[in-house]
Amino acid sequence: MKTLQLSSFGAPTDVVELAEAASGDPGPGQLAVAIEAAPINPSDLMLIRGIYGVRPELPAALGAEGIGRVVAAGDGVDAARVGERVLVVPTLEQATWRERTILDERNAVPVDADGDPLQLAMLGINPITAHSLLHGYVKLPSGAWVAQTGASSATARYVLALARHARLRTLNVVRRADSWKSLLEAGADVVLVEGEDLAEQAADALGDAPLELIVDAIAGEPVAQLAPLLRIGGPIVSYTARGRQPLSISILDLFSAGCALTASG
Ligand SMILES: NC(=O)c1ccc[n+]([C@@H]2O[C@H](COP(=O)([O-])OP(=O)(O)OC[C@H]3O[C@@H](n4cnc5c(N)ncnc54)[C@H](OP(=O)(O)O)[C@@H]3O)[C@@H](O)[C@H]2O)c1
Repeated sequence: MKTLQLSSFGAPTDVVELAEAASGDPGPGQLAVAIEAAPINPSDLMLIRGIYGVRPELPAALGAEGIGRVVAAGDGVDAARVGERVLVVPTLEQATWRERTILDERNAVPVDADGDPLQLAMLGINPITAHSLLHGYVKLPSGAWVAQTGASSATARYVLALARHARLRTLNVVRRADSWKSLLEAGADVVLVEGEDLAEQAADALGDAPLELIVDAIAGEPVAQLAPLLRIGGPIVSYTARGRQPLSISILDLFSAGCALTASG
């Protein structure tokens, strides 16, 4: 079978190799899954560059998430699972950029047999992250304001959708003005563009209400400008730093707002 693999860390366009590998048979408690769709997530690219939180032993099979059909079941696994469409989770326990993967039965979660495979294949990382960012750190009352930086990304759009579902209000910060329209159409309450007057514009939009949570993807200036608007003890949860800037919050904001800083990985 064909598989994509890594023999050295570097630029994804240079170091990812197409190779042949034995398909193998599922062992006890395992399934073999024929991969139908496997996304390229930013975390795959970071892993290939060698800058992710873990560095696999080389050569390494690639692909963090995906879906497929069960094609064989090992001893101790219900043979009726053959033919099921499954989501392959969690990340980094098995590879998906290959024709077929072997995994523990519990890592094959049944999904809608008729759903869009490209959408289903992306369930494993960004939507779960978005849910955890929104609900994993603080209990938010209905109507609470949540701000997020880097709001044009796929992950941020899941945060927005889940926030609407939970009847929360969102203040979304983007770097390009042309992201504005589609976010408003997706139900954003406020969309602001990064810049010197971000703090002032955000304060105007919020009126007297504080932010209950800041979800940060950028670090640097945008989050520093939003921090003074956070309620006392309100958390800032950072899950990436796309601008590659350090997270710099004024110490006075840390004192007066009592911000709780958390990194989600
Ligand atoms: N910690 C975790 O568990 C976790 C989980 C999921 C994702 N993430 C991280 O979250 C990020 C988004 O992932 P995704 O799949 O949602 O990404 P995506 O849909 O590909 O979106 C990429 C985003 O990055 C923005 N961007 C790119 N370079 C930037 C820069 N220099 N400054 C500011 N913004 C920049 C883009 O803005 P424009 O639209 O303006 O181009 C866009 O919003 C990635 O860094 C990913 O690794 C972390």
